[in-house]
Amino acid sequence: MSAPRLIAVIGGTGAQGIPIVRDLVKSGDYTVRALTRTPSSARFRKLQSFGPVEPVIGTFASEQDLRATFHGAWGAFVNLDGFNSGEKTEMFWTIRAYELAIEEGVQFFVLGNLDYGYKKGGYRPEFRGGHYDGKGRIGQWILSQNKDNQSRMKAALFTTGPYLEMVISQNTPMSPSVEDGVVTWRFPVGDGAMTYVALDDCGPYVKWLFDHPELSNGLDLEVAIDHIRGAELARAFEKVTGHPVRFVDVSLDEYFGKGFGLDPSGPAGYNADLNDPATLTIRENFSGFWNLFRHSGGNKGVLQRNYKLMDEIHPNRIRSAEEFFRLEEQKGLRKGLGTLWERVQPENIKDILKITEDNRSGRL
Ligand SMILES: NC(=O)c1ccc[n+]([C@@H]2O[C@H](COP(=O)([O-])OP(=O)(O)OC[C@H]3O[C@@H](n4cnc5c(N)ncnc54)[C@H](OP(=O)(O)O)[C@@H]3O)[C@@H](O)[C@H]2O)c1
Repeated sequence: MSAPRLIAVIGGTGAQGIPIVRDLVKSGDYTVRALTRTPSSARFRKLQSFGPVEPVIGTFASEQDLRATFHGAWGAFVNLDGFNSGEKTEMFWTIRAYELAIEEGVQFFVLGNLDYGYKKGGYRPEFRGGHYDGKGRIGQWILSQNKDNQSRMKAALFTTGPYLEMVISQNTPMSPSVEDGVVTWRFPVGDGAMTYVALDDCGPYVKWLFDHPELSNGLDLEVAIDHIRGAELARAFEKVTGHPVRFVDVSLDEYFGKGFGLDPSGPAGYNADLNDPATLTIRENFSGFWNLFRHSGGNKGVLQRNYKLMDEIHPNRIRSAEEFFRLEEQKGLRKGLGTLWERVQPENIKDILKITEDNRSGRL
């Protein structure tokens, strides 16, 4: 048996990073070194409860800290938090992360990516969303660099979408409210569909990328549970919980006008500067985000997925909102958190994102 390979992770304590680190280290095939600003956090301790995870204390906005993170690692999983940096800064530091990973001898680089929505939408301004384009644009740059650099470091993209966990969590762009006893989602997806992902599926996908470099090199693995419409989300939740649920489509004006916890005129990125003309506002950023999904119903629109490929790579993947909610119901009961219905009540509902748990920026 060969020794476990070391994977350097950026974003390890995040909603996405935790299940990825968990599945890598629990397999025994990998150990992890994770960059974090605060190794004393409960989330970092959680990572260490899974197995061998060493901290590098620092920030992704530092060459020295990136070098220390990548030095001697076989692989890297990099998910820079664009809601910290904003789009422009995220792009610069993702490029530097890729370059410094090569410099430090990393052999396989996986970018935690999002769809390049502006390009996929035909470069139409209504599809411009900084937290999607900031990743997707650099994702394409990495795949093109990889053609020249793959003899030294191979690379793949792991392209996700909104975590379905966000619809049962607080302080997200799609949190539920309870109105006259009815769990209600109000968001502007129209008759489009969301390419939600299940966080528990992220680990197996990313592990597969590292396990099979000969197949995954140069791949953009775009994942989703399914293209899920608002009404379908509500139907699935009602079926699993047995309680009345509704989805209400709202206009962008209504969405940003009331009940959106963040100031829509604030910067998309808590360290981004609104005086910089490159910075999008929260409203600009999330208008592009919602428009992508409004135009993606039925796997025929702007955002498409190859479900057959996902079935081959991860045969046990979650395939529907109903399956996701059933698993969540069982998980909650097993952990003593109550039923799913109880968990979304205002007195019980929890954060899923570290950024809101840490109160870094109200609501995202
Ligand atoms: N929300 C979604 O549905 C979704 C879906 C796909 C992709 N994304 C993207 O994922 C990214 C955020 O990750 P997440 O969803 O896991 O959010 P999260 O739960 O809020 O976690 C944020 C992560 O970023 C790390 N981080 C933030 N600033 C850092 C810095 N300066 N240096 C080093 N690490 C830093 C945090 O680490 P420490 O606090 O430990 O330092 C933490 O691990 C964003 O770019 C977002 O666009 C989000």
